[in-house]
Amino acid sequence: MELGLKDKVALVPASSKGIGLGVAKVLAAESCKLVISSRDQDSISTARDAIVKETGNKNVFSVRADLAVKTDVDLLVEQTTRKFGTIDILAYNTGPPKPGTFADLNDADWEQGVKLLLMSAVWLTKRIVPGMVQKKWGRLIYITSSTLRQPVPNLVLSNTVRLSLAGLSKSLALEYGSKGITSNGIMQGHILTDRQRQVAKDISSRSGKSVDEAMKQMLQDVPAGRYGSSEEVGYLVAFLASDRASYINGTMLAIDGGLVRSVF
Ligand SMILES: NC(=O)c1ccc[n+]([C@@H]2O[C@H](COP(=O)([O-])OP(=O)(O)OC[C@H]3O[C@@H](n4cnc5c(N)ncnc54)[C@H](OP(=O)(O)O)[C@@H]3O)[C@@H](O)[C@H]2O)c1
Repeated sequence: MELGLKDKVALVPASSKGIGLGVAKVLAAESCKLVISSRDQDSISTARDAIVKETGNKNVFSVRADLAVKTDVDLLVEQTTRKFGTIDILAYNTGPPKPGTFADLNDADWEQGVKLLLMSAVWLTKRIVPGMVQKKWGRLIYITSSTLRQPVPNLVLSNTVRLSLAGLSKSLALEYGSKGITSNGIMQGHILTDRQRQVAKDISSRSGKSVDEAMKQMLQDVPAGRYGSSEEVGYLVAFLASDRASYINGTMLAIDGGLVRSVF
């Protein structure tokens, strides 16, 4: 299926590795003009070089930005717009929140978690959406988590704050649906990245199991019997970004190998 994404300008934040990098690679392979970002200039430049080498797409630009810092988000949007003139697709991804139970986390952890998981999306969207309205075309895609529907022990920040992101995405779908803009969310389950290994290490330290055993344990509830890949999330993003998905608006789509059992 031709997705028609050639020369669309996509911003994929938090993309030096893991899910963000997988999404960026797929969009680069679809010939998007791309801006990727992370907190570390060296790792985001390395990711940029890897994407160019793998896809042959030279229209990939990297920016250092901490998504929990508003001035960094300002700069990220400013540099993307200066480089490519516009932003057609926001494939929002962010860094993982601090793990912990309600008892473990203090007020500062909560404030940081809200900035990282919610306010970064608000700041980005606020700055990007006016250009989409002007063009009467835009794609807002929020990569969240399956924790939205099924809380995970020891991830209280993710379990709580990401629900607000779903509320934001739904509200945007309502407000901008008549202006050629769609807003959708993605709820991924276990995707094989460093973050997933970190969660396994955490289970291991609390349960006395080895990290390998913890990695296997996490798959017990996944009917597909395997981890997903970052590129598989990328294929879903690419479809949602395309005109083929123009009637999909205000949904939260699961990509979890069947992990979450509920129908809705
Ligand atoms: N993997 C899964 O199975 C899974 C499942 C559900 C939800 N999630 C969520 O999906 C998101 C991506 O997960 P992942 O597995 O790809 O994680 P990952 O492999 O740890 O990659 C995280 C990426 O985010 C960047 N990053 C971290 N903090 C940042 C910040 N404050 N500002 C900007 N960039 C930041 C990192 O680069 P720098 O360190 O250089 O900044 C890196 O590029 C996270 O929010 C995670 O909680 C993951």
